[in-house]
Amino acid sequence: MFYITSSIIIHKMGCSFSFSALWMVFNLVLALSAMAPRADARAFFVFGDSLVDNGNNNYLATSARADSPPYGIDYPTHRPTGRFSNGLNIPDLISEQLGTEPTRAYLDPSLRGNNLLVGANFASAGVGILNDTGIQFLNIIRIAQQLEYFQQYQTRVSRLIGSAGTQRLVNEALVLITLGGNDFVNNYYLVPFSARSRQFSLPDYVRYILSEYRKVLRRLYELGARRVLVTGTGPMGCVPGELARRSRTGECDVELQRAGALYNPQLIQMVNGLNSEIGSDVFIAANTMQMSFDFIFNPQAYGFVTSKIACCGQGPYNGIGLCTPLSNLCPNRDLYGFWDAFHPSEKANRIIAQRLFTGDDKYMTPMNLSTVLALDTKT
Ligand SMILES: *[C@@H]1O[C@H](CO)[C@@H](O)[C@H](O)[C@H]1NC(C)=O
Ligand SMILES: *[C@@H]1O[C@H](CO)[C@@H](O)[C@H](O)[C@H]1NC(C)=O
Repeated sequence: MFYITSSIIIHKMGCSFSFSALWMVFNLVLALSAMAPRADARAFFVFGDSLVDNGNNNYLATSARADSPPYGIDYPTHRPTGRFSNGLNIPDLISEQLGTEPTRAYLDPSLRGNNLLVGANFASAGVGILNDTGIQFLNIIRIAQQLEYFQQYQTRVSRLIGSAGTQRLVNEALVLITLGGNDFVNNYYLVPFSARSRQFSLPDYVRYILSEYRKVLRRLYELGARRVLVTGTGPMGCVPGELARRSRTGECDVELQRAGALYNPQLIQMVNGLNSEIGSDVFIAANTMQMSFDFIFNPQAYGFVTSKIACCGQGPYNGIGLCTPLSNLCPNRDLYGFWDAFHPSEKANRIIAQRLFTGDDKYMTPMNLSTVLALDTKT
């Protein structure tokens, strides 16, 4: 695609035949080829919630959106994109490491032609493992629908590169799925005496959502995914939104901490179980709660002035309501662990992404992403 573009430029500029023009063209071609997707780069697919949504919700009638300022204030364009971050989010930072451009939202009309070969982002802010999670956000892309879109994507790609080529592209891709936090925060604990909390004790609820999650992961495997990074919950009880709503002392909320302490180890067990059933390390579990605790309980060690107060928001801990143009906004986002009431700053996302690639077995099971990449290039 880029070569076609550059040859058109050469053709146009060739009219004003001079060495300096040729030199310019030469440099332009160099610059364009540096931007072009690397031939050896693998595709990247993203599923899940607001932690990984690259803008799908911009196209939906939902209240779960991040398409107005100051979202995106530190993004390369300094404009909101639908990412729930001041700048880059975790999928962007994974793409950066893979040497590819960021994944485009599946609903973004610019995702077509050769752009499809880079991968796609199906995530939608507000969703959970369960269909009844996030109903207050109205129109969002629930996980079953995200998987249907993945199937539709593969049909579209086979028109470009054939079905064998598509299968290879999907088999060799890296996949990220981030779900589960909303099943607690925006379902079980959304209101006192929620329907799910009357139906299930916490340990039973954890078992139930993990049995549903297992089906989702199985389905991803059936659809061709062979390297799937499965993240745990974030530090649900410690985010500014929950400190504001549930904590009197500024300590992390005990009940949500208990939920994370039950869910995350069982998620790792579930992932290990799936891998042994399949007979291959398809699923990689990331202990994102532990990764976040590092900068939450020791902010200064990571260059933060606070991991309790959000950069953008209002009320106690800037944790009440949404981040809007009228909210308090900190001047330097790099000094805050949290961008808004629920989502890490780009700086915190970088800490998490680094652990995904190089973390030891305290963070990554059965291995980290640099080991995955090294293994996959050998075979
Ligand atoms: C969620 O909805 C999808 C699609 O409507 C359905 O296939 C799936 O069984 C539902 N999941 C649960 C847990 O009810
Ligand atoms: C990545 O994981 C491997 C295997 O667990 C480990 O040996 C290696 O030290 C990790 N990478 C880094 C940079 O820590």
